[in-house]
Amino acid sequence: MLNFTFKNQTEILFGKGQLSEVSSRLPKQAKVLFLYGGGSIKKNGIYDKVTTALAGAEVIEFQGVEPNPEFETLMKAVNVARENDVNFILAVGGGSVIDGAKFVAAAVNFAGDPWDILVKGAAFENPLPIGAVLTLPATGSESNGNSVVNRKETSQKRAFSSETVQPVFAVLDPEFTYSLPPRQVSNGVVDAFVHVIEQYLTYPVNAPLQDRFAEGILQTLVQEGPKALATPEDYDVRANVMWSATMALNGLIGKGVPQDWGTHMIGHELTALHGLDHAVTLAIVLPSLMFVQRDKKQEKILQLGERVFGIQEDDKEKAIDLTIKAVQDFFETMQVKTRLSDHNIEKSAIDGLIENLERNGLTALGEHGDIDLAKAREILTLAA
Ligand code: NZQ
Ligand code: ZN
Repeated sequence: MLNFTFKNQTEILFGKGQLSEVSSRLPKQAKVLFLYGGGSIKKNGIYDKVTTALAGAEVIEFQGVEPNPEFETLMKAVNVARENDVNFILAVGGGSVIDGAKFVAAAVNFAGDPWDILVKGAAFENPLPIGAVLTLPATGSESNGNSVVNRKETSQKRAFSSETVQPVFAVLDPEFTYSLPPRQVSNGVVDAFVHVIEQYLTYPVNAPLQDRFAEGILQTLVQEGPKALATPEDYDVRANVMWSATMALNGLIGKGVPQDWGTHMIGHELTALHGLDHAVTLAIVLPSLMFVQRDKKQEKILQLGERVFGIQEDDKEKAIDLTIKAVQDFFETMQVKTRLSDHNIEKSAIDGLIENLERNGLTALGEHGDIDLAKAREILTLAA
């Protein structure tokens, strides 16, 4: 096992009615920037519930953080936060709103161009504290320090990570996910699944506990994910999916083990250049990445196949093929298509994707740093 430090500062408020706990977690004389997305919370009643929960605080609203949160929009929110001198951000939504809140929190007291936080890893001071009310279990953003921001103007999707912008609390009420459209239910399950894979499907370092944490989450998602589509108002199913997605990327399962993240990095370019949903990009890239990296990942692919998908096959190469197919079939069961052509993206688009990887310095991906541009091209070509 590799050395590690582990701390997760986010207080999880899990279950029905937990939103009522929020007021006691706000700073004294709270001046809250209430940040949300395109308005789904107004249709499903969450907006009213949050307004009630914030009754004792001064509240400034900012609506309109889009999926794949846009730098320009977030800069408007930064200005609102500065003008109103807010001392807390409450993000209500999915990963995009929560990631957006982290960027705003970091940018508010940053003297230079906040884009540098994303592209140059510029250090920032005195970020605002954040709380999250999660409405879409997927990214784990509610209890990690990661933030991914899109910039259409430059066709870039860039990330930064700092525990200083990690939410201090996160409300996880499974009922808040009942209103999710099937597409977002699917996206959430696939994203969480791939988060686990990025931290599990590498090479063995004799870390059986991390392996079993990971396999437990994967099995739960495989079992409960399709149920969330079939019976959307089943509280227990929603609760299990929600907790799985949080546990998939709150830092725990990746401690002491190598991590990959190649699928995510290649996937981000598909969103930046073609606007695909984040999870859709992962479903396209992962099976092909597994195929191309099958020798390096052999032991863990075999373990995944046997322990998560119940594959019993003595011939190793066959077992690997069956495991890749099982992953692909799971995505298709979740109604997420796994090929570029399913989204009318032609093979000729691969050049642009490779150029973007190069421009963003993403030329040595994966747990061995061996996914160079040639391998990335091979992966995308296989996924065509
Ligand atoms: O904008 P609103 O109206 O809120 O609607 C959203 C949005 O249209 C809707 N939605 C959310 N909750 C709902 C709902 N609709 C009905 N009922 C509800 N309860 O769903 C749509 C998608 O929301 P979004 O927040 O974009 O989805 P997701 O949570 O999948 O977040 C994706 C973003 O997170 C980043 C991705 O790159 C992408 O930008 N990621 C963040 C990570 C992190 N912070 O650790 C890691 C991930 O790998 C990922 O990169
Ligand atoms: Zn993801």
